[in-house]
Amino acid sequence: MSTFRDVDPAVTGKLTCGSLRAVNAGEQVVLRGWVNRRRDLGGLIFIDLRDRYGLTQIVFNPEIAPAAHEIASDVRNEFVLEATGIVRERPEGTRNPRLATGDIEIEVHDLEVLNTAVNPPFYINEESDVDESLRLKYRYLDLRRERMQRNVILRHQIVKYMRDYLDDRGFVEVETPLLIRSTPEGARDFVVPSSGFPGEFYALPQSPQQLKQLLMVAGLDRYFQIARCFRDEAQRADRQPEFTQLDIEMSFVEEEDIMGLIEQLFIELTEKFTEKRMSSRPFTRMTYAEAMDRFGSDRPDLRFGLEFQNVTDALRSTGFKAFAGVIENGGVIKAIVVPGCAGYSRSQIDEITEIAKANGAKGLATFALRDGEVKSPIAKFLSETEIAALTTDIGARDGDLVLIVADTFDVVSKALAELRSHFGDVLGLADPNEFHFLWIYEFPLLEWDEEGQRWDATHNPFCGFLEEDRSLLETDPGAVRAKQYDLTLNGFEIGGGSVRMHKREDQSKIFAMMGHPPDAQQERFGAVLDGLEFGAPPHGGIAMGLDRWVMFAADENNIREVMAFPKNQRGVDLMFDAPSPIDEQQLIDVGLALRPKPEDAQPVRE
Ligand code: AMO
Ligand code: AMP
Repeated sequence: MSTFRDVDPAVTGKLTCGSLRAVNAGEQVVLRGWVNRRRDLGGLIFIDLRDRYGLTQIVFNPEIAPAAHEIASDVRNEFVLEATGIVRERPEGTRNPRLATGDIEIEVHDLEVLNTAVNPPFYINEESDVDESLRLKYRYLDLRRERMQRNVILRHQIVKYMRDYLDDRGFVEVETPLLIRSTPEGARDFVVPSSGFPGEFYALPQSPQQLKQLLMVAGLDRYFQIARCFRDEAQRADRQPEFTQLDIEMSFVEEEDIMGLIEQLFIELTEKFTEKRMSSRPFTRMTYAEAMDRFGSDRPDLRFGLEFQNVTDALRSTGFKAFAGVIENGGVIKAIVVPGCAGYSRSQIDEITEIAKANGAKGLATFALRDGEVKSPIAKFLSETEIAALTTDIGARDGDLVLIVADTFDVVSKALAELRSHFGDVLGLADPNEFHFLWIYEFPLLEWDEEGQRWDATHNPFCGFLEEDRSLLETDPGAVRAKQYDLTLNGFEIGGGSVRMHKREDQSKIFAMMGHPPDAQQERFGAVLDGLEFGAPPHGGIAMGLDRWVMFAADENNIREVMAFPKNQRGVDLMFDAPSPIDEQQLIDVGLALRPKPEDAQPVRE
């Protein structure tokens, strides 16, 4: 077990299992910890005593301390011991260079068993594959394991670094309440009833968005918070129903100020806490439109290429019906060149065609360049020039496979982006030791919600827009560009924010477009709208997903590995068995009666 920054015994008044070295030989010490492993060699008993700082070998000799030896013969793994003895240098040949304390051992004179332990449900003293449900049920034992201790401590160190970085730059940490009013951030709220107000509900914040904006109105011009956020939405490997943001808001700033502050922080965090190579310094920047055009995604993994090639123009006069029809309807035709896959078999092509179809494409056209020939099921429908335009003209060489999708811009983007990630994975194109940070900016402000027949914010409804696009609000709202920026890392969104609207008229207009009539606006967003009238300064901010960042820093591919007590993939807390039914009286107290469960409701307990 590796040692973490050891505590100074002079400060804590206690030695740890990671602290003793050869220079301490001859000292009388008291060590406390858990039994990591016990070896009984007939005469001598050796125990590796463990705490979070490391391991120390303690030795029991029946001739020197018969009583202690007697007790030691009965201890088992995970018992809690207090051992008193003398530090000895280990004899040559028995030293363990892999342990920080490997040059010494403790010759124990007195042993006290502070507590016994039943057999744990999985090994704590070794890294082994354990069913995740079992780990979550006994999380306190899982957290005793080295990897989890490392992750928890790394998270602490990262948060401390963030706090110091912002404190040095004049930021003030302000706690905002967890019982608030339902906020419109896009996900569903968790709601909280209360006995004082039967029939009414608080909501847990999806983020402190409105509160941090009101702190700007309050004149606290540089705010941050390590903020808990709650969203009742479907879980994924990088999503939890409660999670933490590094939440920031600043007054009198433009996009550049916030992006600069965050960029410097994440460069420092990467250098201090990871061994990764940063391939984007300064961070790459791309508008949303460019990212969608070249990669079909607003968070492309830029550790590898496989960039889209737009071949629409070259096919304007094609006789191939599937393509001609798409062009006629204003669609696009795009290609990616996959290196070295010209030998793909029929069934492999079927497999990737399924990926395209699952993402809405009507088909997937392929061109394999083999032995100087182009093989394609649609070659017979195309001219020589058209075939060249779809292969050699876009850089395909012998051995490559070209994939083509013709459809609307959105379908082409989705289908080819999925294929791009697929080949990134199967061809191992992304370097696991590389961090490629990418800012995406100038997102559309609004998107049309067909179901609700109204405009909706693509990010949050407080996001400002480019002044030069103001007139488009009347003529072409979908084309208005937002002052929104997201920070992405290797294909994941790790943060996002915007410069906000700070004038009531603007905010009110956007709310109206989103289908909130004036009186409803006052009821739903009264505090923010009123606040904007009392001299709100221009302001903006960002929120970084802390858990996601720590997941990257710890080299984990699941957010649950960097949260001390996460929910499982279904949002269930397996340790406390929550959510759980409550007593009838509790329901009565808060004025609730239960409806029958929907038929498709999944049981919490299997
Ligand atoms: P947004 O909703 O984009 O912005 O959230 C910011 C960042 O938080 C992380 N994140 C999550 N992490 C884990 N589990 C989740 N369920 C989850 N949801 C989001 C992501 C994301 O980039 N108030 C705005 C910020 C602002 O405009 O200042 C907000 O919350 O990494
Ligand atoms: P079809 O004429 O529909 O049998 O298609 C002939 C070939 O063209 C097949 O290989 C299809 O996968 C491909 N194809 C058809 N429609 C599209 C499309 N929208 N985009 C890309 N390839 C297509």
